Amino acid sequence: MIKEAIQPQITAATDFLPLQGTDYVEFYVGNAKQAAHFYKTAFGFQSLAYAGPETGIKDRASYAIRQNKLTFVFTTPLRGGNEIADHIYKHGDGVKILALKVTNATDAWEQTTLRGAISYMEPVRMKDDSGELVMSGIKTYGDTVHLFIERENYTGVFMPGYRKWESNYNPAETGLLYVDHCVGNVGWNQMNKWVGFYENIMGFRNILSFDDNDISTEYSALMSKVMSNGNGYVKFPINEPAEGKKKSQIEEYLDYYDGEGCQHVALATKDIVKTVTDLQNRGIEFLKVPTTYYDDLLDRVGAIDEDLQPLKELGILVDRDDEGYLLQIFTKPVEDRPTLFFEIIQRKGAKSFGKGNFKALFEAIEREQESRGNL
Ligand code: FE2
Repeated sequence: MIKEAIQPQITAATDFLPLQGTDYVEFYVGNAKQAAHFYKTAFGFQSLAYAGPETGIKDRASYAIRQNKLTFVFTTPLRGGNEIADHIYKHGDGVKILALKVTNATDAWEQTTLRGAISYMEPVRMKDDSGELVMSGIKTYGDTVHLFIERENYTGVFMPGYRKWESNYNPAETGLLYVDHCVGNVGWNQMNKWVGFYENIMGFRNILSFDDNDISTEYSALMSKVMSNGNGYVKFPINEPAEGKKKSQIEEYLDYYDGEGCQHVALATKDIVKTVTDLQNRGIEFLKVPTTYYDDLLDRVGAIDEDLQPLKELGILVDRDDEGYLLQIFTKPVEDRPTLFFEIIQRKGAKSFGKGNFKALFEAIEREQESRGNL
């Protein structure tokens, strides 16, 4: 059953961890130079900043790229036998850091560690000619980390240690705007632990819950709870596998990521037809639902502003809730392991996550699992 959690609203005055939004998402990857090129080429990100031996960072190379309010960082180690290399060996390419923008990174670290968070990085003041940036961090599920970034006194291109990345290769943007939500997959019986972590340690609240009656097909099942921070700028749905006839898609992820981690990052657009057309033309592969999905779509979701034909051609899904509707589509995994993928989402009033699409979507995922021999 779908449940709206009834909990007291978190007001600005009572929010002990005020967040201004997602600052950036950092991926640990086997080859950061090539990964950055892929995200520029295929997703339309722009070169922003570079850190590496040439900027005094001896052990790694990092490329920061940006599109509107979206900032991705790709980091690769220059040698083996360190935390980054071990992370890539174990997990493959994946999300390491979900960085959150705060007004006080020292206070964010103190408030969360006081409540039981495990520290990843004590507050560090980093300075260069462009000012001062303060960073701190705590651990979350798996080997994933939340960094708190305080950049109000920093005017540089990204952060100390980086220099501006000037490139002659600047593919057109695709209309991606900001991170809508980031989903974590956690292990069997770990849901409540991580819901508790976000509630008690980070001051989030559970705004939506789906159990395996909502989210099960013939084979795979999962449970999901959506955690939101006080002002709603940051949303972290959490998935746990559930028992089904065959292997849950979440279990497949956990097997191949070798542990808990970020399953997908949802990227917002104001024009999903244009964005998805661009992405497909640049080689991004999306999950496809059967065209019968569109036969009774308008009966299910009511009138929508978009023409049905392009949605059908592109495979874009539609769902409605009490406040409006949303359009969404999911990429196939963007690496060889069946782990991280992206969602492209356009909200037209709806604040939910596309529950009405779960069945068609999960059947599409199962067809992919089947083709990998993992169902
Ligand atoms: Fe999503």
